[in-house]
Amino acid sequence: MEFNNLLFEASEGIATLTVNRPKALNALNEATLKELQCCFAGIQNDPGIKVVILTGAGEKAFVAGADIAAMQSFDALAAREFARLGHAVFNLIERLPQPVIAAVNGFALGGGCELAMACDIRLAAENARFGQPEVNLGVIPGFGGTLRLARLVGKGRAKELILTGEMIDAREAHRIGLVNQVLPPGELLESAVKMAKKIASKGQVAVRLGKEAIDNGLEMDQDRAARYEAELFGLCFASADQKEGMAAFLEKRAAHFRGR
Ligand code: CAA
Repeated sequence: MEFNNLLFEASEGIATLTVNRPKALNALNEATLKELQCCFAGIQNDPGIKVVILTGAGEKAFVAGADIAAMQSFDALAAREFARLGHAVFNLIERLPQPVIAAVNGFALGGGCELAMACDIRLAAENARFGQPEVNLGVIPGFGGTLRLARLVGKGRAKELILTGEMIDAREAHRIGLVNQVLPPGELLESAVKMAKKIASKGQVAVRLGKEAIDNGLEMDQDRAARYEAELFGLCFASADQKEGMAAFLEKRAAHFRGR
C-alpha cells in the first residue's frame, strides 16, 4: 500500500503504520484521516495481519492533534463533517478485529491523544506528552476525546484534562491509567513489536473474541455482559485453536495455533 502521509509495512503478521507528516508534528488533516481509513479498512480484511502497531514519524510527536491550519477556516458544517470523518476512522480502529498497539513516541495532543485512545493498548516513551488542549483554541475535542478519555481515566480526571487543556507527562498518564507502560524512547518500538509478537503467537480466534468481549461488554449491564461473555466463550469451542490449545497443554507440548 502506497500513501502520502502514512508509512505502512508488514512482516511476520505484524503491520506497522507510521503517521508521516513530521513537519506538522504528524497533525491529522483530511487526507491523512482518509489514508488511515483506507489502510485500516484493508487491514481488517487481511487474515495475514494479526496485530497492528501505530506510531508517529520523527522523535518529537506521535500526533500533535487535528490540523489547526486546515481547521481554521471551517464553517460549522465543515467542522461537523471533519469530526464525523474522525469518528468514522477512530471507530474503525477501535472495532478492528485485530488488536492495535499505540507506540506513543512524543506529543499525543488533541486528535493525537484521541487516536491513541482508539487503540487497544498504549505504550508510551518517557518523553511522550498527553493532553486535550482544544480549549486553548476555543473548541472541544471532536474525535472522541470526551467519550474515550472519561471511560479510560474516569469522569473527574477527564474533565480536569479537557477543561484546563493542561498537558501531562508519560508517568502521570501511566499513573491515571491512560497508558499501559512507559519505556525509554529507544526501547519503545522494540517493546511494541515484542508485545505484538506475543499476541500474534496466541490463538487468534481467542484474541479477537477477547477484544470483542471487553469492548462490547463494557457497553452492557453486568447480566447482559456475562451472558455475552458466555456466548463468546462457547464460540471458542467451535475453533481448531481451542482443540489444539487444550490438547497441547495436556500433552505437555507447545501449541501450534492456526487462527481458526
Ligand atoms: N496542526 C497543525 N500544525 C501543527 C500542529 C497541529 N495540531 N501542531 C504542530 N504543528 C506545526 C506547527 O505549526 C509548526 O509548523 P511550522 O514549523 O510550519 O511553524 C510545526 O508543527 C512544529 O510545531 P511547533 O513549532 O509549535 O513546535 P514546538 O515544539 O514549539 O511545540 C507543541 C510543540 C506543544 C506540540 C505545539 O506544536 C502545539 O501546541 N501544537 C498544537 C497542539 C494542539 O493544540 N492540538 C490540538 C489540535 S485541535 C484538535 O485536535 C481537535 C480535535 O479533537 C479534533
